[in-house]
Amino acid sequence: MNFRHKHILGIEQLSADDIRFILDTADSFKEINSRDIKKVPTLRGKTIVNLFFEASTRTRTSFEIAGKRLSADTINITASSSSVVKGETLEDTAKNIEAMKPDIIVMRHAASGACHYLAERVDCSIINAGDGAHEHPSQALLDMLTIRQHKGRLEGLKVAIVGDITHSRVARSNLYGLTRMGAEVRLAGPGTMVPPGIERMGAKVFNDMREAIAGADVVMMLRIQLERQGKTLLPTLREYAKFYGLNTENLKLAAPDALVMHPGPVNRGVELSSYVADGAQSVILDQVENGVAVRMALLYLVLGGEQAQ
Ligand code: CP
Repeated sequence: MNFRHKHILGIEQLSADDIRFILDTADSFKEINSRDIKKVPTLRGKTIVNLFFEASTRTRTSFEIAGKRLSADTINITASSSSVVKGETLEDTAKNIEAMKPDIIVMRHAASGACHYLAERVDCSIINAGDGAHEHPSQALLDMLTIRQHKGRLEGLKVAIVGDITHSRVARSNLYGLTRMGAEVRLAGPGTMVPPGIERMGAKVFNDMREAIAGADVVMMLRIQLERQGKTLLPTLREYAKFYGLNTENLKLAAPDALVMHPGPVNRGVELSSYVADGAQSVILDQVENGVAVRMALLYLVLGGEQAQ
């Protein structure tokens, strides 16, 4: 298959064949990550700039590791260490970085649509590492890779996504991806945290978390995004944990072999009890591990994927 995407701006733009091809490519890269010498020359001579305007542990680190394992030169720029603090605009920042001839800019930004804006103004490839409450495509891809690894398929699975749906770019990207791959997606959260009309994107919506997770093959918990909530959308965190937290008791409603997932960072004791986060059904660290392979695949494919591994 020919992968024809210069940019990865969202899962919305990817077909089921694209998603399958990215996951297959990531699968082929996983083996490199378990070698003693975790490096191949695939992207030698390529330059990748990680431009992060928001905090990140997993995404920024794994894009950097992914680039390095493919022998690319990787440079990290964070907002606090850049001339953004002196008032430079996003466009000027990107144009100045582009003048140094990178091949890819991986960007995280608080504004929804920031990556689309940039892709229309620079010549190099743009990979969205999370834009506001809009999309987080590499997260959804690593989530789908993890589900496929454990369940052998995506089609026909019941996936419950629980929490702050409104502010979650992870939920939106997974909704696009999982429905496209034939899974049933159930969304649950307090009424203040579920956007009206989201069922038009193909999801079943529940206010009662227990209905959403009943018989589910996968329970994906979301972080409460207090930094994106303009006003208080829940009475107390304790009350939220009572009605929308996953614990050993309500997890029994899901399928006995259900996977527990979370994109991280986890608010322990709020959306997820520590027993469940660290329990036998949790695949949270598998998600993180798969993040490196998925990001290797994305870097490789947007640059044409023509060089030998
Ligand atoms: N899942 C995720 O995006 O984590 P970080 O914010 O640490 O990158």
